Formats: sequence, C-alpha cells, structure tokens
Amino acid sequence: MILQPIMLKRLQTKWGVNTTQFIIIMCVFAITGTTTAWITKVITEWVGFTSDTYWLWRWMLRLAMLIFGYQVILLSVAFLFGQFPFFWQYEKKILKRMGIPIPGEVKISETKLPIAKTHDSINVHEITAGSDLRATDAQEPVYIALFASGAGSNARAIIDYFRKRPFVKVALIISNKPQAGVLDIATKENIPTITIAKERFFKGDSYIPDLKSGKIQWIILAGFLWKVPAALIEAFPGKIINIHPALLPNYGGKGMYGHFVHEAVIAAGEQKSGITIHYVDELFDHGAHIFQAYCDIEPGETPEMLAKKIQVLEHRHYPEVIERLIKNEGM
Ligand code: GRF
Repeated sequence: MILQPIMLKRLQTKWGVNTTQFIIIMCVFAITGTTTAWITKVITEWVGFTSDTYWLWRWMLRLAMLIFGYQVILLSVAFLFGQFPFFWQYEKKILKRMGIPIPGEVKISETKLPIAKTHDSINVHEITAGSDLRATDAQEPVYIALFASGAGSNARAIIDYFRKRPFVKVALIISNKPQAGVLDIATKENIPTITIAKERFFKGDSYIPDLKSGKIQWIILAGFLWKVPAALIEAFPGKIINIHPALLPNYGGKGMYGHFVHEAVIAAGEQKSGITIHYVDELFDHGAHIFQAYCDIEPGETPEMLAKKIQVLEHRHYPEVIERLIKNEGM
C-alpha cells in the first residue's frame, strides 16, 4: 500500500512534472487505454473477426492497434488535454528506440564509444542500483555550479533540463568574462552569479568559500577556458567535470577550443568527431573520460557545419550525463 504512492512520486520526479500535470498525464493514459480497447473492438467487429477467426489474425490486429493506433490516440488525447509537448517527447523516445526517423530532428549518426566505464567518484556514495531515491527524494536538492565564459548554450540546456528535475538545482553561475552571454541567461533565470578575478582564482582562495557557503556539491564546466587550480580540485574531489567538443585525447589541450577544434578536425580529414565529458584535473582536457558520443563527418563538411552537429550532441548528452553522475548511476 505504502509502496504505491512512493512509486508514483518517483515517476512524477522522473518526469519532472507537478502534481496537477501528473494527474492529467495519468488521465491521458487511462483514456487512451480505454479508447484504444474500444476502437480495437469496433474494428474487430467491422472486419468481421469473431472468436472463431484464426487466433493469429486477431492477435495481429490487436498488435497493430497497440503499436500504431495507441500512439496516434495517445497524442490526440494528449492534445485535447493540453499535454501534447510532454507526450511528443515520450513518443520521440519510443520512435527512436524503434529506429523510426523523427520529423524535425537533426539527423546525427551517433554511437557511444567504449569508454572508461567507471571512475572512483562514481561510486563515491556507494549507492547501489535502485537506491537512487536518496538523491531524488531528498528534501534538499543537489546544488551545482556552472563555470562558463561563452554564449552559454550548454548552460541553457542544463538549466532547462533540471528545471523539470528539481532534485538538482543550478545554484550558481561563475564566469571570468563580465560580458559573457551566460551571465544574461543567469539574470533571466534568477541564478546568482560571480564574475571571478584571475588573481583570487589562481593565487587566492579560488572562491572555495563562496562555493562551500552556497552548498555547491558539483562543479560543471561548460565553456570555461581557464585551468582549474589544484586547491579547487582538492576541495571538490571527483566532482568537477568538463565537456570538450572533440574526441579526446585528440584535439584537446591549450588553444583547442571553439572553432579551433572543428577547424583542426576538418583540416586533418577526420571522418568523425564528437564530444567528450571528463573529470577535470590540473591539465587542459586531461582527466579521466566519463562519456563520449560521436557523429560522422560528411565529405565537404565545413567547421561551421560540424560545430552545429557537435552542439546538438552536447545539449543532448551533457545534462543527462550530469544527472546520471549525481544519481550515481554508472555510465
Ligand atoms: C562547448 O563547445 C563546450 O564543449 C566547450 O565550450 C563550448 C561552450 O559553448 N567546452 P556554449 O557557451 O555552451 O555555447
């Protein structure tokens, strides 16, 4: 009895919706189920199937209704209840799994590369499968800080992702550039910011007191171009990660950022490029790898075209990888 509300609560948290929306979604599922059953019955009678009809034909009709009819009815009911965006996301996942192309999606042939599967810090809480309730149902969200100095498209993707998953809170944005686009995003989102000074970052307290007093648990680099000082790495062991727009260990290191990376990749005639999410150590783009995904490079592709594909990969995977790390699910 008690398990039921807990399971529903977990589902609600997973979907990142409030209670009212959760109830509406459940109604949509219930109405779709009943409607599909009713329509299947009507079609069965219309084509003249009876209990004497060969069982395979009856089952094939039911299966077709379940696979195709259900999806169409689900989206229609969702539309009537104002829940189309939620269910369209849901359908997209199903279509992707079935290998069906989705209209309007950027087509990227992408494969996860075999990567260092674990790292000590993944098991830092020694949470085993099924016990991620501690992370998701805790009263207090896990506070993360984003370090970014560019346009902030990744920061935007992360903020949007966790808005629907309130067990993680983007609590602080740190930049070394006062004009960085990411600071405008922070202002619009009401997220506190710190514009850091070189001297204090590298030779002072590295802003550790600000991070600690802000209860920051994870530091997420998204377009932050300075090295991270040793003191900061020691203060957040295994809790600082970065994303790089290439398949490290190639095309990384000092000076390899933004368009320089994509230009170098194209100039070298590579047939694929991708993203690497990795732990941060004191060297540029050097720590243990957590996750990689790649896309093919078509003949004649320009660095600008490649940059767009890489950005799609970044936005698709970075927030999800962050979530999995925080929930302590292996990669
Ligand atoms: C991204 O390409 C990321 O991989 C790199 O810096 C870039 C930041 O872009 N570390 P944005 O500011 O998030 O758009």
